[in-house]
Amino acid sequence: MYTQAIDTDPQFVATQGAMRSVGATHASHDRLLASFDQRIANDEKIEAQDWMPAAYRKTLLRQISQHAHSEVVGMLPEGNWITRAPSLRRKAILLAKVQDEGGHGLYLYSAAETLGSSRAEMLDALLEGRAKYSSIFNYPTLTWADVGCIGWLVDGAAIMNQVPLCRCSYGPYARAMIRICKEESFHQRQGFELMLALCQGSEGQKQMAQEAFNRWWWPVLMMFGPPDADSVHSTQTMQWGIKRISNDDLRQQFLDATVPQAQLLGLSIPDSDLRYDDSSGHWQCGPIQWEEFWRVVQGDGPCNRERLNTRRIAHEEGAWVREAAQAYALKQAGQQAQALG
Ligand SMILES: [Fe+2]
Ligand SMILES: [Fe+2]
Repeated sequence: MYTQAIDTDPQFVATQGAMRSVGATHASHDRLLASFDQRIANDEKIEAQDWMPAAYRKTLLRQISQHAHSEVVGMLPEGNWITRAPSLRRKAILLAKVQDEGGHGLYLYSAAETLGSSRAEMLDALLEGRAKYSSIFNYPTLTWADVGCIGWLVDGAAIMNQVPLCRCSYGPYARAMIRICKEESFHQRQGFELMLALCQGSEGQKQMAQEAFNRWWWPVLMMFGPPDADSVHSTQTMQWGIKRISNDDLRQQFLDATVPQAQLLGLSIPDSDLRYDDSSGHWQCGPIQWEEFWRVVQGDGPCNRERLNTRRIAHEEGAWVREAAQAYALKQAGQQAQALG
């Protein structure tokens, strides 16, 4: 954990020590804020040791830890299918993918720790239901085709969302996203390839692919978050250079990229209002049922309780691993101190 990063800007520390009056402290805070704003305007990266406004730190911590939780909870729906993958090749691909998601959680918890919260605190918030994760992972994986839909659509939507985050103003988050996006690209392609195999298969396989597609299509469109007009944090996070593209614009990019892919697969899109708008050159979908989105976000989706319960059990069963790692680290530190001393 890097709690020393809080307000350690030399200019800030010196000013705090030298200036006793409240007015002077306010003035120094204003100067630091002006310099932060200028750096954001110049598109410079903010690093862990730099001064940053408390609200920027809090927003990033919330976003990065939610993102980390989503990666880890996101291992569960697909993890269900590792033992039932239809071939050795498919099992190897799925194992690698689920393992990648665990790695993404690790990079992101590490990036969030640079903002002053420990991984244990963040995990407690998740397991006690105080922290959110992406609501898409509260939907079930009923058939093997759901695994294909997650890769193709969920990871596809994640890429749309995450590529702009590689340019996020906070350095540790932006750098974590570069590596994550490379791996997400493999996830999306393996999902599409799985769906292609099913769509070129038997009637039963085609039907399985269509039914899974029907289940995932609308929840995936909701993944980009509520419409811009209703998005509480969007304006500020865009001003801070954390978010670069709005929810509605990302959703549009996804729609334009994915409709032709569904057509290539021979799947019919479960939206009677879907149409191509010649004047704008974009696909337009029908109205999204936002009541369903809010219901799932608030804890009442098909698998919310099951997902959290599985994570709680995994956390308890993993206690011995954490204890062993800690004991090993203490032993190493002791040996190092002995060697030096
Ligand atoms: Fe991921
Ligand atoms: Fe992924």
